[in-house]
Formats: sequence, structure tokens, C-alpha cells
Amino acid sequence: MAYRADDKGYRFDTQRITAGYDPYENLKAVSLPIYATAAFEFEDVQEAHDLFGLKKTGFLYTRDSNPTNLVLEEKISKLDGAAGAVTVASGMAAISNTIFNLAEGGGRVLVSPYIYGGSVDGFKKVYEPFGIHIDTAEHILEPELLADEIKPDTRAIFVESISNPNAYVLDIDAIAKVAHDHGIVLVVDNTGATPYLYKPFEHGADIVVYSATKGLNGHGNAIAGIVLESGKFNYNNGHYPQFDEKYYTLRDDAGNWRTVTEVFPETPFTVRLRVKYLDLVGSVLSPFDAYLTVLGIETLSERLSRQSKTALKLAQYLEDNEHVNFVRYPGLFSSSFYDIAKKNLPNGAGGILSFGFIGSQEQKELFLNSTKLFHYHVNLGDVRSLIVDSPDTTHSELEDKEKKIADIPDNLIRISAGLEDVDDLIADLEQAFKIAFSE
Ligand SMILES: Cc1ncc(COP(=O)(O)O)c(C=O)c1O
Repeated sequence: MAYRADDKGYRFDTQRITAGYDPYENLKAVSLPIYATAAFEFEDVQEAHDLFGLKKTGFLYTRDSNPTNLVLEEKISKLDGAAGAVTVASGMAAISNTIFNLAEGGGRVLVSPYIYGGSVDGFKKVYEPFGIHIDTAEHILEPELLADEIKPDTRAIFVESISNPNAYVLDIDAIAKVAHDHGIVLVVDNTGATPYLYKPFEHGADIVVYSATKGLNGHGNAIAGIVLESGKFNYNNGHYPQFDEKYYTLRDDAGNWRTVTEVFPETPFTVRLRVKYLDLVGSVLSPFDAYLTVLGIETLSERLSRQSKTALKLAQYLEDNEHVNFVRYPGLFSSSFYDIAKKNLPNGAGGILSFGFIGSQEQKELFLNSTKLFHYHVNLGDVRSLIVDSPDTTHSELEDKEKKIADIPDNLIRISAGLEDVDDLIADLEQAFKIAFSE
């Protein structure tokens, strides 16, 4: 019997290859075709009207949806256990579309200090003029104290599951409980973990965002973002008046205007994000980049599993190094996140680690300039190992006091483990340390 797409009961490692795509619906093409088209033919006038009225699902214009992008949306939904997904042009677009869709009309978002520097910069510069105020969550590592930081107009809590650059592992179950006790949404940026290592919806998250540029893609060849929803949150609970709005475009056969939640009860968040923000603000993912992301996900398990093992060995090597004063990796026994990582990350603690370089600024620069196998740039989750001085690059937008709160000292260096032989990577660090301390 030849291959038949049938996702019933398949496990994660099978789903990352099979989910979302059926060759028999694509002229039996085994590999996902790239639908390089801006628009889709309407069969007749009735079909055009039904598609525009959201009475029929289908494709009409790639700014709303595209079959290649849909495969990525369905695949990642299956892997994460989501009710719905929208692909967007970047991780930053995933975050901004999510914040606008949640806090439209004004309000507050309570944000973990342990996040990517670009996200911090966005939170500082983008939202305030739209009436959306960002508060830094001082007690994100002590969720029992977090309730005091939620104000009457707080609309969401935003965290990273495994943080960039410190690889802090947050207690999503406990944070979700606080959010839900207050009737608000928990948004989890799961970029560092990917669903292979961690599935935030199983721990109470309501929205998951990805920079698919990182581990999901894994080859550093495209910028992409994804927003997913659990399908379980009630957006008509009084905290999100925008979800009580009735739309002309969603009217029933009798002409009554309806809300997104009435028409799409299982996926109101992603449908609203698609028809309002994706369509009208327009940060669309190119089908070619969706294709590259799907290709990357097909090898997700092998990459993340191997990167976790390599990261642990690199962390152990650095822990014993005389030129290093701290190593942050949740898989290390000495890490304060070891217990939670052991419990919540059974497939590995991820490929991101960081360490403190003891030496002068000149020695640190010489060390970085002397690595030959590690690439020196700002991406993460690549098959190639990456090294970067985060305080001066990925997190350089942070003011000194923000770096202090985020626990990013000036001597911090971040590594993203790739798939090379770990002994070659260790030898590369070793020779770079030797050069840095040779005089
Ligand atoms: C955790 C995290 N979220 C979001 C982003 C932004 O993603 P993108 O570069 O795809 O816009 C990054 C980028 O480094 C990141 O590390």
C-alpha cells in the first residue's frame, strides 16, 4: 500500500514529517510545493462572495493565506497541540500582532524581564503611543508573588519558556494559574524550546509565539514567525472588549452582524489576528520562507536532541574553565533551573547556554575574534554553532539598569550549539582562550 496521509494516532516524530500535508491533494508531489501566487482564481461569483464573507474557507489572496503557509500552520498546530495558527513574516511580527490583538484599545501587558533584547526594545518603543503600557514582572521567578503585579487593566502576561540569553526555565504552569485567576491570557514565546522540547499549551499557555527563524527552521536561511492559540480561552470574559465587537463581514444569512467568537468559537484569536492584523497591517510570510520552515521542522527532533547534548558538554567544559566565572545552562546539575528542566524538558534542555568571561574587554574581544569554528552572529538554533557577546549585540538596546534586572552582566557570552562534533567545538574554544590569554 502506498503512502496515505493519516495523522490519527501518529507520534511527534512522525507528525513533524507527515502533519499538514497530503501529496494526493498536490498532484502527488512528495515534497511540499511552493505556491508562488499572489491570488487564487474564483470558480464563480458565488464562490467569491462566500470567500469574502468567510462563509467558505479557501484561498483568495496570499496576504490572507496560502496553501504552502497553511501546511506550516497545520504542522505546527499538530506538534504544539494548538487549535489554530497564523504564520507571519518574523518573530517580531508574531509578538507585535499578538500584543495588538490582545491589548487593542489600550491596557497593560506584564512582561518577564528575561527575554530577547529586540522584544524588550519593541516593548519600550512601539506600544505606548497606542495606549498599551508595558510593565516589567519583577516576580516572574516567584509566581506566588506575581498576582500583586497585575492591575485592573492588565490584559496579558508575556514570557519566554527558555529565555534568551540566560536559558532560564520559567514555571509556566504556575504563571498560567495566576493569569487565569485574573481572567487574562498567558503568552509564551517558545522560540528557544520549540515543541520538541516543550509544549506550553500542556502547561496552561493560551497563546504561543515563535520566531521560526531559530530552532524551528534550524538552517538560518529565512525569517519567519508563528502565532498559535489553545482554543480554550474565553475572550468574552470582559477583559477583551474588542472580541465583543460585531462585524458586517461576519453576518449570518438573515443579515445579523456577529462576533469572531460566535463564528469561530475554537479559533477566535488567530482568526481575528488573520483578518485584522495580517490582512490589514500586512506582515505576511512569503510561501518560499514557509517552505524552508517546513523543511527545517522535518528534522526538528534530531537537531534539538543533539544540540541539547552538545550544549550540556560545552557547559560542562566551560564550568571547569579557569577563565569563566559562571555558566548558565539548565541541564547542568549546578543550575538553579536544573530541577524544573529535569521535570519539564525530558527531551533535553536546549541548545542555548551562556557564560561569564573573566578578563579584560580586550581579552574578551580577542577571544571572540579568535574562534574559527563558531560563527559570530546574532541568530539562534542553527545547525552551525554560534557565539555572541549578547550585552553588546542582541541585548545592547537595554540600559544598564535593565541589564541588571535581566541578569545580563557585561562579561556574558551566549552560545547556540549546532550539530558539529562537540570535541571540535571544545577545541575551538580552548584555542581561542589560549590566544586571549597568551600575553
Ligand atoms: C526569543 C526570541 N523571540 C523573538 C525573536 C524575534 O524573531 P525574528 O528575528 O524572527 O523577528 C527572537 C530573535 O532573536 C528571539 O530570540
